Amino acid sequence: EQIRAVQRRLVDWYRREARDLPWRRTRDPYRILVSEVMLQQTQVERVIPYYEVFLARFPTVEALASAALAEVIAVWGGLGYNRRAVYLWRAAREIVERWGGRFPGERRLLERLPGVGRYTAGAVACFAFGERVAFWDTNIARVLRRVFLGPEARPGRRELDELAERVLPLDRAYEWNQALMELGARICSARRPRCEICPLCGLCRSVGTEGESRRRGGRFE
Ligand code: ADE
Repeated sequence: EQIRAVQRRLVDWYRREARDLPWRRTRDPYRILVSEVMLQQTQVERVIPYYEVFLARFPTVEALASAALAEVIAVWGGLGYNRRAVYLWRAAREIVERWGGRFPGERRLLERLPGVGRYTAGAVACFAFGERVAFWDTNIARVLRRVFLGPEARPGRRELDELAERVLPLDRAYEWNQALMELGARICSARRPRCEICPLCGLCRSVGTEGESRRRGGRFE
């Protein structure tokens, strides 16, 4: 069946091909939260140096919570969208004040932190605590839509929630979710999907049908 085959191939590919990214070397929820907030509007390559500098200055949630907001924003520096730094600082203060410096391990509770939406709460629950949770951003949504629904599909939020949940493996949620992001970034890109080298070639409902080469002047050929 398609779902099982996709799960197996994508996780196998991820194990062979995954980039060695700093936030994949840790299960510390604080470090994972910092990475996910930085990655929300910024590309991986640009995030890495800021991530290292930020964590060198604020290595723990306590360090961030006790810093002055002006310094946090200064260290956030050129990443932009500085509101993300303000929310991150507020979330750190709440974790220290309300939770004694220990992150709650459940998505439902993480979602109540300032600036932490459904996606970020899911990512922290899964990547730090190993919770089996489905979540999606625009990249994951694009991959899921192409692979499981096809080029004509225009799923709404509810449908994407249900699809992400339905195809999530019972175990290996960590690798599956990282793999969806990895495929979306490196192969199944919005404008130029590289179907010819995709590990899901033969299992995908949209193979060869998408990307800008198929469009001219905003219309499909
Ligand atoms: N973008 C958002 N989260 C990511 C992650 N964990 N790895 C790579 N890219 C990402």
